[in-house]
Amino acid sequence: MKAMPWNWTCLLSHLLMVGMGSSTLLPRQPPPPSQKRSFITFRGEPAEGFNHLVVDERTGHIYLGAVNRIYKLSSDLKVLVTHQTGPDEDNPKCYPPRIVQTCHEPLTTTNNVNKMLLIDYKENRLIACGSLYQGICKLLRLEDLFKLGEPFHKKEHYLSGVNESGSVFGVIVSYSNLDDKLFIATAVDGKPEYFPTISSRKLTKNSEADGMFAYVFHDEFVASMIKIPSDTFTVIPDFDIYYVYGFSSGNFVYFLTLQPEMVSPPGSTTKEQVYTSKLVRLCKEDTAFNSYVEVPIGCERSGVEYRLLQAAYLSKAGAVLARTLGVRPEDDLLFTVFSKGQKRKMKSLDESALCIFILKQINDRIKERLQSCYRGEGTLDLAWLKVKDIPCSSALLTIDDNFCGLDMNAPLGVSEMVRGIPVFTEDRDRMTSVIAYVYKNHSLAFVGTKSGKLKKYQPGDEGREREYQDSKLSPAPHLRDLEKA
Ligand SMILES: *[C@@H]1O[C@H](CO)[C@@H](O)[C@H](O)[C@H]1NC(C)=O
Ligand SMILES: *[C@@H]1O[C@H](CO)[C@@H](O)[C@H](O)[C@H]1NC(C)=O
Repeated sequence: MKAMPWNWTCLLSHLLMVGMGSSTLLPRQPPPPSQKRSFITFRGEPAEGFNHLVVDERTGHIYLGAVNRIYKLSSDLKVLVTHQTGPDEDNPKCYPPRIVQTCHEPLTTTNNVNKMLLIDYKENRLIACGSLYQGICKLLRLEDLFKLGEPFHKKEHYLSGVNESGSVFGVIVSYSNLDDKLFIATAVDGKPEYFPTISSRKLTKNSEADGMFAYVFHDEFVASMIKIPSDTFTVIPDFDIYYVYGFSSGNFVYFLTLQPEMVSPPGSTTKEQVYTSKLVRLCKEDTAFNSYVEVPIGCERSGVEYRLLQAAYLSKAGAVLARTLGVRPEDDLLFTVFSKGQKRKMKSLDESALCIFILKQINDRIKERLQSCYRGEGTLDLAWLKVKDIPCSSALLTIDDNFCGLDMNAPLGVSEMVRGIPVFTEDRDRMTSVIAYVYKNHSLAFVGTKSGKLKKYQPGDEGREREYQDSKLSPAPHLRDLEKA
């Protein structure tokens, strides 16, 4: 288990992100119960919003992605280095790469919103991607934020121009003897022809290498990417996929998404647009993306449906909660926060629920669906990928836990929603962020709320699933480190 201080810094990294415009960072460590609390704070420039925060688990140093700046802070929130990323002359209508296509749109001073901040531990660098120029990335040395590379001469160096920080997620898959891979999942902001919504890229050792961010595989017919078909926009004009969280576990990479969908309410034949939360799974080693599977996820308590994903965090069960759930202590759990209903994405309702998913149960559900599809049952059922009504084809093969798909039945949507286990619901002060870890066999979940409160839960501990005392930390919402209020 990690040492406590870094767990707390980690907690800070996910909970104590205070939103766009109110750039303040709060405490580092919980004070002992007997002492009066005094917090260390860090304030950015006025009107400068914070977007993302990562903590180097080896040193405790904090990296903060803000509008137009990347900061390196000590664990007591002293600024060690600042790296400027913007603003610059740009126009969101200009298409990349600009050295190939000149842009005739008027350029104006434009902010660079940090959209993704990842630590590449193997190469001791920070991958910082912004919104300027259709989303290019810098590779910065962790030590001093010296710019090691900033690839921009090829089309695949541009991730997407969205300037909402809560729409992109990256997951690094590391190898001991090969170049690493970077899975990038991003909203595309109406430009599906330019930007794949999900892809795997080469993360070369040399930050200036020509192949940096090149698709892991790409030929005329097959590529390590999925683009949103333009037909999808004729059904849902503002279609996009918002990536809330991502992680890797076992042989897979997972993303948790929110996406618009047309549904008919019960008893009605007319369709209406709602947002559905879905888990996306891909095999780490699948270069053709035949393993792409989507599963709707949600939560229900006392007849109330919580379907709009706000935040998520992967943790282990720990011995105590494992006993309650009937799993092993080292099993992966997904701690999730949903808000009620599925109508509104940005102005979510305040009724919210903290729910737990057992990752193995989701994987089992996917395996069962893969098995039934390869028996020829049902359809591929993925509306946005235009395969909703395509029947599954049968094939005689054994599908085990690590099956990575064939092009015959891919991509595949699981129709039935997987429900999480509700831990706690809150009706007034919407839960907006979550982090969890195991401490002395107990699973602890910390939740940040819209009004700036911090709540602590001990799921699985009888009678101790309580709120954290004295938890008011700030007057502004706690945000998952990638979403505006
Ligand atoms: C994001 O882009 C929109 C439209 O171009 C603009 O109105 C908004 O100010 C931008 N956000 C930031 C933080 O610069
Ligand atoms: C945690 O649980 C294990 C297995 O049940 C037990 O051996 C160990 O003593 C426990 N540790 C603590 C700190 O309670």
